Amino acid sequence: MRLFLDTASIDEVRAAARYGVISGVTTNPSLLAKEGGVSYRQRIQEIASVVDGPISAECVSRKADDLVAEARELASWHPNVVVKIPIDSEGLEAIHRCSAEGIKINVTLVFSANQALLAALAGATFLSPFVGRLDDVSYDGMELIRECVHLVETHDLPARVLAASLRHPLHVAQAAAAGAHIGTIPAALIPQMLKHPLTDIGIDRFLADARTAGLI
Ligand code: E4P
Repeated sequence: MRLFLDTASIDEVRAAARYGVISGVTTNPSLLAKEGGVSYRQRIQEIASVVDGPISAECVSRKADDLVAEARELASWHPNVVVKIPIDSEGLEAIHRCSAEGIKINVTLVFSANQALLAALAGATFLSPFVGRLDDVSYDGMELIRECVHLVETHDLPARVLAASLRHPLHVAQAAAAGAHIGTIPAALIPQMLKHPLTDIGIDRFLADARTAGLI
């Protein structure tokens, strides 16, 4: 499974990039709103200068014609931009039209296997099922990841499953086990995924023994 960073913060992108584990970035209007009025275009271009991989920028139009025009504009910002479009009937038409033009689409706010199937058939590059938001309303979000992976693999669909709304380290491990092709994670998850008390104890013990052995 590849990892994308779910953020509009250039500081978080730069900090995560030094580990070499992040191969793309996803943004959305809520993440951008936390950035104090920065231009969306400028921020996407800054992110693209740090991470050489798919950078998702989200449309806010509600009609298919407007979505297509907005998607063309977002895609013009950088060759690595992938345009996020929410899955509804206007969105589905826009996904089809944009994909036919060669604009890569990340279909967002996916909450059912049927939405994922329609999005994949319309030409989506990425399908983003939201795990945490399903968990929030007492449904098993990870089951949707399993269904989407099964769907694209059984029917040999080219769309990739991008597990989104991952909120804690167990979500990441379970999404990987479920076969998600990508997981997008908040920056705070990287140190949480790294941390293990036995690693810390082991380092302390090796250092103490290294001193005893005269190595340091
Ligand atoms: C993904 O593309 C979304 O931006 C994100 O994962 C949503 O996460 P949330 O449900 O924690 O807001």
